[in-house]
Amino acid sequence: MPTKLPIAVLISGGGTNLQALIDASTNETFGCKIVGVISDRPNAGGLDRAASAGIPGEVIDWNESIDRASFTTAICDKAKNRGAQALVLAGFMRVLAPQAMEGFPNAIINVHPSMLPSFPGGTSVQDALDAGVPATGVTIHFVDELVDHGPIIVQEPVPIINGDDFESLHARIQRVEHRLLPEVVSAFGKGHITISGGSVKWATAADLGAIR
Ligand code: GAR
Repeated sequence: MPTKLPIAVLISGGGTNLQALIDASTNETFGCKIVGVISDRPNAGGLDRAASAGIPGEVIDWNESIDRASFTTAICDKAKNRGAQALVLAGFMRVLAPQAMEGFPNAIINVHPSMLPSFPGGTSVQDALDAGVPATGVTIHFVDELVDHGPIIVQEPVPIINGDDFESLHARIQRVEHRLLPEVVSAFGKGHITISGGSVKWATAADLGAIR
């Protein structure tokens, strides 16, 4: 069986995306192994999900961190100590300092609840509702030094329906996230997604024939 890429998953909240990764990782063909979960909040519900799955969970408390650089370095050190070779930001609501991109070059993946570059930031779902646009969506991208920015791996639009509120729209967005994120993370672990010249390349069927 091919070796799985060891990853650390970073969370801030309930961790439904983490759960989707945990569930997918029970499949033998999943391309990654979750070696650790790191939260910036001590009470993040996702830590219980990690514990239930037998995955070590750790907290680097943002509120107790001196600055962004030391917060980032502490996260990277924890992830590396667990053997992680990539970071997956699954509902992680903090911005990492450039030390993270240096420690994990082209190996940090984020899921964001909008069609970036539209609606970056921490209130994207409500922002799309407030803007009155007919659709928003999901973006999965590599992380660079800017906020909610970096080479886009995949995007999928999600329609905004008459009468939608935050809960109904976020639930529809999350259904897409829970499908796309494990797909992308698994493909990345298998080496099927690479960056070249700042843009993302997915392996073609022909490439896959050669990779197998
Ligand atoms: C997800 O919808 C994710 O896209 C969003 O937080 C939610 C976390 O849910 N992330 C961001 O807004 C990042 N800017 P979860 O904890 O249930 O996975």
